[in-house]
Amino acid sequence: MGKEPLRVLVTGAAGQIGYALVPMIARGVMLGTDQPVILHMLDIPPAAEALNGVKMELVDAAFPLLKGVVATTDVAEACKGVNVAVMVGGFPRKEGMERKDVMAKNVSIYKSQASALEQHAAPNCKVLVVANPANTNALILKEFAPSIPQQNITCLTRLDHNRALGQISERLNVQVSDVKNVIIWGNHSSSQYPDVNHATVNTESGEKSVRELALFGLCIMPGRLNGEFISIVQQRGAAIIKARKLSSALSAASSACDHIRDWVLGTPEGTWVSMGVYSDGSYNVPAGVIYSFPVTCKDGEWKIVQGLPIDELSRQKMDATGAELVDEKALAYSCLS
Ligand code: NAD
Ligand code: LMR
Repeated sequence: MGKEPLRVLVTGAAGQIGYALVPMIARGVMLGTDQPVILHMLDIPPAAEALNGVKMELVDAAFPLLKGVVATTDVAEACKGVNVAVMVGGFPRKEGMERKDVMAKNVSIYKSQASALEQHAAPNCKVLVVANPANTNALILKEFAPSIPQQNITCLTRLDHNRALGQISERLNVQVSDVKNVIIWGNHSSSQYPDVNHATVNTESGEKSVRELALFGLCIMPGRLNGEFISIVQQRGAAIIKARKLSSALSAASSACDHIRDWVLGTPEGTWVSMGVYSDGSYNVPAGVIYSFPVTCKDGEWKIVQGLPIDELSRQKMDATGAELVDEKALAYSCLS
């Protein structure tokens, strides 16, 4: 007997991330190649025709794992019985805009969609917020959906995590699949702290720390790990917007699949990933905001990796991005009042 299909909601499904994401889900990239899915796609009425076009393409692609498609502009219908909700719907940042500029537009969407998820989703629905400001949208969703377990509401910082892996791979000239255990701390914004202090590379002579390799490598100087590397990862979203005149889409969609896959199916032994989760104050960062931490996942649950040593530079950067999240929380509430 094959598995029962899981229902996966994608909001903003007619947008550019949605267009990249739904075929990945239908191919099994998110939940496994033995897991049938029913896609629920939500968008707003002006995008209804485009949404229907995406549905037509999904039918035309004849994905064997795809057992049904709901394409709707009705939030309640979209949320009905969903096991996974990927919240992409909202207004993206354009060139020259800071993330705070999109705050007012997007947090009110997340307040209203929180209630719909609470009322209509499956009881243990896992929620991933992608739309910016991702951490604060996720926080608002959590606050206005009190019956959804708080550990089920997360935001996407896996894209930043993957960007950090990609930069290390390029600069040290190693395979990206051999690099692991970078950390994104804090906000999915330019204040985030991409931390390489615990990152390693699998080499022919065993596992080596990225800092050690940088010391002997020709392509990346240790000092640059504390400066240039951090700002490249922090500013990568803006660099993509500048180059494409549109924000990242294929990398965002692929990272969203990585986030849910590892959460549901587990992280490999000895490997952690970065997820925006409700902070309990671990590592003395502010509690009560959605903050990106290193986590391991098993049996569908994430756990913050504890006990990592934190140096002075890291401390400052972790505090700065935490302070930004506390400010964003206050700003979000002021936008909603
Ligand atoms: P897009 O404009 O192409 O698509 C957004 C879609 O959301 C549109 O189809 C729009 O009609 C729809 N939408 C608007 N309001 C909605 C609502 N109330 N309910 C349902 N759908 C609604 O944008 P995009 O490039 O796909 O980006 C989507 C979001 O993801 C943006 O906020 C962007 O900034 C963010 N983003 C986050 C990350 C991350 O790593 N966290 C990365 C890239 C982009
Ligand atoms: C990204 O990181 O690519 C997105 O969040 C777009 C942005 O606004 O930075």
